[in-house]
Amino acid sequence: MQRTAICPGSFDPVTMGHVDIIERGLKIFDRIIVTILTNPVKNYLFNLEERMEMLADGLKGFEGQVEIDHYDGLLVDYAAKRKADAILRGMRAVSDFEYEFQMALMNRKLNREVQTVFLMTSLRWIYTSSSIIKEAAKFGGDVENMLPSLAHQRLMEKFGFPNPAS
Ligand code: PNS
Repeated sequence: MQRTAICPGSFDPVTMGHVDIIERGLKIFDRIIVTILTNPVKNYLFNLEERMEMLADGLKGFEGQVEIDHYDGLLVDYAAKRKADAILRGMRAVSDFEYEFQMALMNRKLNREVQTVFLMTSLRWIYTSSSIIKEAAKFGGDVENMLPSLAHQRLMEKFGFPNPAS
Protein backbone atom coordinates (compact mmCIF):
# COMPACT_ATOMS: atom_id res chain seq x y z
CA MET A 1 0.00 0.00 0.00
CA GLN A 2 1.30 3.41 -1.00
CA ARG A 3 1.55 5.91 1.87
CA THR A 4 1.09 9.57 0.92
CA ALA A 5 1.71 12.65 3.03
CA ILE A 6 0.93 16.28 2.40
CA CYS A 7 3.72 18.62 3.44
CA PRO A 8 1.96 22.00 3.65
CA GLY A 9 3.47 25.42 4.10
CA SER A 10 4.02 28.93 2.87
CA PHE A 11 7.46 28.16 1.39
CA ASP A 12 8.29 31.88 1.14
CA PRO A 13 10.89 30.72 0.12
CA VAL A 14 11.69 27.02 0.52
CA THR A 15 14.71 26.52 2.83
CA MET A 16 17.17 23.69 3.39
CA GLY A 17 15.19 22.99 6.57
CA HIS A 18 12.11 22.20 4.44
CA VAL A 19 14.18 20.07 2.07
CA ASP A 20 15.58 18.13 5.05
CA ILE A 21 12.09 17.39 6.42
CA ILE A 22 10.83 16.26 2.99
CA GLU A 23 13.89 14.10 2.39
CA ARG A 24 13.50 12.42 5.78
CA GLY A 25 9.74 12.17 5.32
CA LEU A 26 10.39 10.05 2.25
CA LYS A 27 11.87 7.38 4.54
CA ILE A 28 8.39 7.05 6.08
CA PHE A 29 6.08 7.89 3.17
CA ASP A 30 6.21 6.63 -0.40
CA ARG A 31 5.05 9.95 -1.79
CA ILE A 32 4.93 13.50 -0.49
CA ILE A 33 2.75 16.21 -1.96
CA VAL A 34 4.37 19.54 -1.11
CA THR A 35 1.54 22.04 -1.13
CA ILE A 36 1.60 25.81 -0.89
CA LEU A 37 -1.37 27.07 1.10
CA THR A 38 -2.23 30.49 2.46
CA ASN A 39 -1.23 31.44 5.98
CA PRO A 40 -3.50 34.45 6.55
CA VAL A 41 -1.16 36.05 9.10
CA LYS A 42 1.76 36.25 6.66
CA ASN A 43 2.59 38.82 4.01
CA TYR A 44 4.45 37.01 1.31
CA LEU A 45 7.61 38.29 -0.32
CA PHE A 46 7.28 35.95 -3.32
CA ASN A 47 4.20 35.32 -5.42
CA LEU A 48 2.77 31.83 -5.84
CA GLU A 49 4.48 31.22 -9.17
CA GLU A 50 7.89 32.19 -7.75
CA ARG A 51 7.40 29.96 -4.70
CA MET A 52 6.38 27.00 -6.90
CA GLU A 53 9.45 27.54 -9.10
CA MET A 54 11.82 27.72 -6.11
CA LEU A 55 10.26 24.56 -4.63
CA ALA A 56 10.72 22.70 -7.92
CA ASP A 57 14.38 23.70 -7.95
CA GLY A 58 14.91 22.81 -4.28
CA LEU A 59 13.31 19.40 -4.69
CA LYS A 60 15.15 18.40 -7.88
CA GLY A 61 16.24 14.82 -7.48
CA PHE A 62 13.05 13.74 -5.71
CA GLU A 63 10.97 13.69 -8.91
CA GLY A 64 8.68 10.66 -8.92
CA GLN A 65 8.35 10.73 -5.15
CA VAL A 66 7.47 14.38 -4.67
CA GLU A 67 4.71 16.42 -6.28
CA ILE A 68 4.45 20.20 -5.93
CA ASP A 69 1.00 21.76 -5.79
CA HIS A 70 -0.96 24.69 -4.37
CA TYR A 71 -4.42 25.02 -2.90
CA ASP A 72 -6.63 27.90 -1.92
CA GLY A 73 -8.63 26.67 1.09
CA LEU A 74 -8.49 24.44 4.14
CA LEU A 75 -5.61 22.05 4.48
CA VAL A 76 -7.86 19.22 5.70
CA ASP A 77 -10.09 19.58 2.62
CA TYR A 78 -7.04 19.35 0.41
CA ALA A 79 -5.73 16.32 2.35
CA ALA A 80 -9.11 14.57 1.92
CA LYS A 81 -9.28 15.49 -1.76
CA ARG A 82 -5.84 13.98 -2.34
CA LYS A 83 -6.63 10.95 -0.13
CA ALA A 84 -3.51 11.62 1.93
CA ASP A 85 -2.64 9.39 4.88
CA ALA A 86 -1.08 12.22 6.89
CA ILE A 87 0.00 15.81 7.11
CA LEU A 88 3.77 16.12 7.58
CA ARG A 89 5.23 19.10 9.44
CA GLY A 90 8.68 19.90 10.78
CA MET A 91 9.12 20.97 14.38
CA ARG A 92 12.18 22.98 15.33
CA ALA A 93 12.07 24.02 18.93
CA VAL A 94 9.70 24.42 21.84
CA SER A 95 8.75 27.79 20.31
CA ASP A 96 7.10 25.97 17.38
CA PHE A 97 5.21 23.61 19.61
CA GLU A 98 2.22 25.72 20.63
CA TYR A 99 1.40 26.85 17.11
CA GLU A 100 1.89 23.39 15.63
CA PHE A 101 -0.12 21.76 18.42
CA GLN A 102 -2.98 24.22 17.93
CA MET A 103 -2.98 23.75 14.18
CA ALA A 104 -2.85 19.93 14.43
CA LEU A 105 -5.74 19.91 16.91
CA MET A 106 -7.82 22.29 14.82
CA ASN A 107 -7.20 20.18 11.73
CA ARG A 108 -8.22 17.07 13.68
CA LYS A 109 -11.37 18.81 14.88
CA LEU A 110 -12.22 19.75 11.29
CA ASN A 111 -11.58 16.25 10.00
CA ARG A 112 -11.02 13.34 12.38
CA GLU A 113 -9.59 11.19 9.60
CA VAL A 114 -6.56 13.42 9.12
CA GLN A 115 -3.42 12.59 11.13
CA THR A 116 -0.53 15.00 11.62
CA VAL A 117 3.01 13.62 11.80
CA PHE A 118 5.90 15.74 13.07
CA LEU A 119 9.56 15.25 12.34
CA MET A 120 12.17 17.03 14.42
CA THR A 121 14.22 19.35 12.25
CA SER A 122 17.88 18.33 11.98
CA LEU A 123 20.15 20.17 14.40
CA ARG A 124 21.85 21.86 11.44
CA TRP A 125 18.68 23.77 10.53
CA ILE A 126 17.15 24.18 13.95
CA TYR A 127 17.67 27.97 14.04
CA THR A 128 16.56 28.68 10.49
CA SER A 129 13.17 29.70 9.12
CA SER A 130 12.10 31.45 5.94
CA SER A 131 11.35 34.58 8.00
CA ILE A 132 14.72 34.81 9.78
CA ILE A 133 16.60 34.00 6.57
CA LYS A 134 14.72 36.80 4.75
CA GLU A 135 15.54 39.23 7.54
CA ALA A 136 19.25 38.35 7.52
CA ALA A 137 19.37 38.50 3.71
CA LYS A 138 17.63 41.88 3.58
CA PHE A 139 20.45 43.41 5.60
CA GLY A 140 23.21 41.71 3.60
CA GLY A 141 23.74 38.58 5.74
CA ASP A 142 25.20 35.51 4.06
CA VAL A 143 22.40 32.94 3.87
CA GLU A 144 23.61 31.04 0.83
CA ASN A 145 24.02 27.63 2.47
CA MET A 146 20.59 27.83 4.13
CA LEU A 147 18.69 27.85 0.83
CA PRO A 148 18.46 25.82 -2.37
CA SER A 149 20.28 27.65 -5.18
CA LEU A 150 17.30 29.23 -6.99
CA ALA A 151 15.76 30.42 -3.72
CA HIS A 152 19.06 32.09 -2.81
CA GLN A 153 19.36 33.67 -6.26
CA ARG A 154 15.78 35.00 -6.19
CA LEU A 155 16.20 36.34 -2.65
CA MET A 156 19.34 38.23 -3.65
CA GLU A 157 17.49 39.68 -6.67
CA LYS A 158 14.51 40.67 -4.51
CA PHE A 159 16.74 42.63 -2.14
CA GLY A 160 18.77 44.20 -4.96
CA PHE A 161 22.05 42.39 -4.33
CA PRO A 162 24.24 41.31 -7.27
CA ASN A 163 23.09 37.98 -8.71
CA PRO A 164 25.71 35.42 -7.63
CA ALA A 165 24.84 33.22 -10.62
CA SER A 166 25.60 35.85 -13.27
O1 PNS B 1 4.73 27.61 6.51
P1 PNS B 1 3.59 28.05 7.38
O2 PNS B 1 3.23 29.49 7.09
O3 PNS B 1 3.84 27.80 8.85
O4 PNS B 1 2.32 27.14 6.94
C1 PNS B 1 1.06 27.32 7.54
C2 PNS B 1 -0.04 26.76 6.64
C3 PNS B 1 -0.02 27.44 5.27
C4 PNS B 1 0.18 25.25 6.45
C5 PNS B 1 -1.41 27.01 7.35
O5 PNS B 1 -1.61 28.37 7.57
C6 PNS B 1 -2.59 26.41 6.59
O6 PNS B 1 -2.85 25.22 6.67
N1 PNS B 1 -3.32 27.27 5.82
C7 PNS B 1 -4.52 26.84 5.08
C8 PNS B 1 -5.81 27.16 5.88
C9 PNS B 1 -5.98 26.12 7.00
O7 PNS B 1 -6.37 25.00 6.74
N2 PNS B 1 -5.57 26.52 8.23
C10 PNS B 1 -5.48 25.62 9.39
C11 PNS B 1 -6.76 25.35 10.12
S1 PNS B 1 -7.66 26.75 10.58
